[in-house]
Amino acid sequence: VKPKTLTTLQNAKRDQTPIAMITAYDAGFARLAMEAEIDILLVGDSLGMVVQGQRDTLSVTMHDMIYHTKMVRRGAPSGLVMADLPFLSDTDTPTVLRNAGRLIQEGGADIVKIEATAAKADLVQAMTDAGIAVCAHVGLLPQKVRQLGGYRVRGRDIDDASAVMRDAEVLTHAGAAMVLVECVPSTLGARIAKSIDVPVIGIGAGVDVDGQVLVMNDLLGMNPHPARFVRDFLRGRGAILQALQAYASAVRSRSFPAEHEGFV
Ligand code: KIV
Ligand code: NA
Repeated sequence: VKPKTLTTLQNAKRDQTPIAMITAYDAGFARLAMEAEIDILLVGDSLGMVVQGQRDTLSVTMHDMIYHTKMVRRGAPSGLVMADLPFLSDTDTPTVLRNAGRLIQEGGADIVKIEATAAKADLVQAMTDAGIAVCAHVGLLPQKVRQLGGYRVRGRDIDDASAVMRDAEVLTHAGAAMVLVECVPSTLGARIAKSIDVPVIGIGAGVDVDGQVLVMNDLLGMNPHPARFVRDFLRGRGAILQALQAYASAVRSRSFPAEHEGFV
């Protein structure tokens, strides 16, 4: 299998071939995900919850991110690896450039993801100008959970839908090479993917986006309180590899997510 690049993903969007992305936090799962031909590995700050057992992602540090990104890179030497900028690692331009640089140079990441609204356009622009491939994470932003008082679907009313759409547009205009949209009505996910030129990956954003991402532990049935958009791909299968293959194939045939796995 040829190594995936941003160009591969751009072509996949053009050809309407859905992109299958999954989180990975260590070498063993990264290796399995590559064997299952998953397109992108995300070293998500969700590791704070699923690996570290924290209540949310806010305690994850740059040290944690680099530690896990290195392990994923070792398990998937030729894989396309995206790593999250953790909480408060992006407070200003010099800080975000230093931290994104560390994820790439120390961790081995190819792409850096930032939770952002249009207000962070200057940060995305600065990273892009520096040669960093940036994915803009819009919609529900888990790093704001303590401020928001919980996880809620975004974009359910017209004003909020316009705000999410505008975030995606502004951040793409600032240079984001990809967009990840979390927890929005399926119709809004579809509209964003249609109006944005770069690949749009969804989680809880319906089937009509350019690709899907799930947390590894969630799709292996390890979450006792799974969100609506989670499917247990291990159930009824004998091995994790089979579960990962089933996930990749369900994404590519657009049989995941189903309507009931999206929001209205
Ligand atoms: O950290 C993570 O796993 C993520 C996904 C939920 C998109 O950002
Ligand atoms: Na994240």
